[in-house]
This record gives sequence, structure tokens and C-alpha cells, in this order.
Amino acid sequence: MKMEELIKKAAKDLVHTKNAVALTGAGISVESGIPPFRGKGGMWEKIDPMKYAHIDAFLKDPAKVWNVLVKDMKEIVEQADPNDGHNGLAKLEELGILKTIITQNIDGLHQAAGNTDVIEFHGTFAWQKCMDCGNRCETSKVDISRIPPLCDCGGIYRPECIFFGEAIPVDHLIRSQDIASKCDIMLVIGTSAVVQPASSMPMITKQAGKKVIEINPERTPLTDSVSDYLIMGKAGHVMNRIIEEIEGLLVL
Ligand code: APR
Repeated sequence: MKMEELIKKAAKDLVHTKNAVALTGAGISVESGIPPFRGKGGMWEKIDPMKYAHIDAFLKDPAKVWNVLVKDMKEIVEQADPNDGHNGLAKLEELGILKTIITQNIDGLHQAAGNTDVIEFHGTFAWQKCMDCGNRCETSKVDISRIPPLCDCGGIYRPECIFFGEAIPVDHLIRSQDIASKCDIMLVIGTSAVVQPASSMPMITKQAGKKVIEINPERTPLTDSVSDYLIMGKAGHVMNRIIEEIEGLLVL
């Protein structure tokens, strides 16, 4: 089926539910100027995640990880605004269709767009936590004139996101699994679906006999086996068109 037909199909599927959920990944923030991790222009093309995004690497040399990864990320995230993909999901919540977003992103853009129930599966970049006393400081306010930045107690600040080698907070995992098993439709937007356990959420929805709709300019491991259909396009354009179609259906 052509993209336009699939967009109309998705609008018809969504307009009848009050219980849709979205699983999002880095791709939804690409149009906000935040690079993805994998693929062309991806961050892991430039740096080795095991050397800079693994908890062992951070513990061994926090200054190195701050200098190569965290400082740049701070600048990129602080300049980013929600795009049409984020805004489309906020609109779906406003229309009473979308309940929750499970996001692998740490950029806070879903909340900035207006979604009120966002599970930050991989934590958040909005806050830093002192590794000694646990004091929290907003990332935008942390003093980076010295790297790594230090808390008043002398401890090192680390972002409150999940590094490779760290566990997903158990409450996030359990709630996401529960939501994935009970939703009517899961929208899977902008994720390569290769990182577990996030990528198993659509499988839970599928196993519960419910619908999985992917939005991505590329195919993923979910495409043939799990997704009911893939709308092959960029999140911003596809979400704009889906919202237009839903609004058209609602006035009929
Ligand atoms: N709209 C929608 N999807 C897009 C767009 C776009 N404009 N641009 C790129 N994509 C898709 C790519 O085709 C790819 O499938 O977004 C996906 C990005 O994949 P990844 O970079 O692997 O991001 P993600 O799936 O979120 O990665 C999962 O890996 O390194 C870790 O912790 C990091 O949370 C991250 C996790």
C-alpha cells in the first residue's frame, strides 16, 4: 500500500480507540536537530558507545565521557524544540486517543510538546545526580566550567539517564509491560528496535492480539514479524497527515 493509503488506515484505526500508546525512539527527535544513534549521521558512527556510553567507561573516566559525549549532548538538547512528530502525539492525547508514551529518548521533548504521561524508559537528561550524596541539579544549571562538574560536596555529577550496562528502573519496566499488554494500538515511532528491553514492548502488544503501527523511513526488525504495517516516512510529516485525517473523520 502507498504511504497516503496507510496514513488513512492509521487514522481510521486510531479514531476508534481511547487506549493507544506510543513507543518512541531517537528518530522522532531527528527533525528537532538531535542526531540518532544508529544509521547515517548517527552518534555511534562517530564514537564507540562501549567506550563512552557504558557505565564502566563513565566510572573509569568521567571527565572523558563528559568531554566527548555529555557536554555536546547538553548543548544539542538545550537548543532543541518539539517538532511536528512530538506535537502530533500531544494532539492525539488532547483528542483522548493516546494515553501514554513510552520513550527511549532522554530529551524531554514529549513533555515540552504537552504529553502528560511519559515513561522515560532510559531516564532523563534534564537532571544530573551527584554520585556521592545523591543531590540533584538541573542539567541546564550545572556549572560546566570544570569537567567533570562537581556537586558542593565534591562528588561528580552524572546525567540521570541509563548508561549501557545499567538496568532499566524496575517501576518503568513493569508499568511499560503492563501498558503494552493492555493497549489497543501501539504506535512505534522512530526507533531501530534493536535495544532491549524497549524493543520487546511492541511484541507484548502483538502477543495480546492488538495492533502495532510503525512510523519510520526505514524498515526495522519489527517490520515483517511484529508490526501490522509500516508507514514509511518521517515522523513529522506522517503525524501531521494522520492528525489531519483524524480531524476530518471527527467532523463527519
Ligand atoms: N522520523 C522517524 N524515524 C526516523 C527519522 C524521522 N525523521 N529519522 C530517522 N528515523 C529512524 C531511523 O530509521 C531509525 O530506525 O529512527 C531510528 C533511530 O534509531 P536509533 O538511532 O537506533 O535510536 P533508538 O531506537 O531510539 O535507540 C535505542 O539505543 O544507544 C541507545 O540508549 C540509546 O535510547 C537509545 C537506544
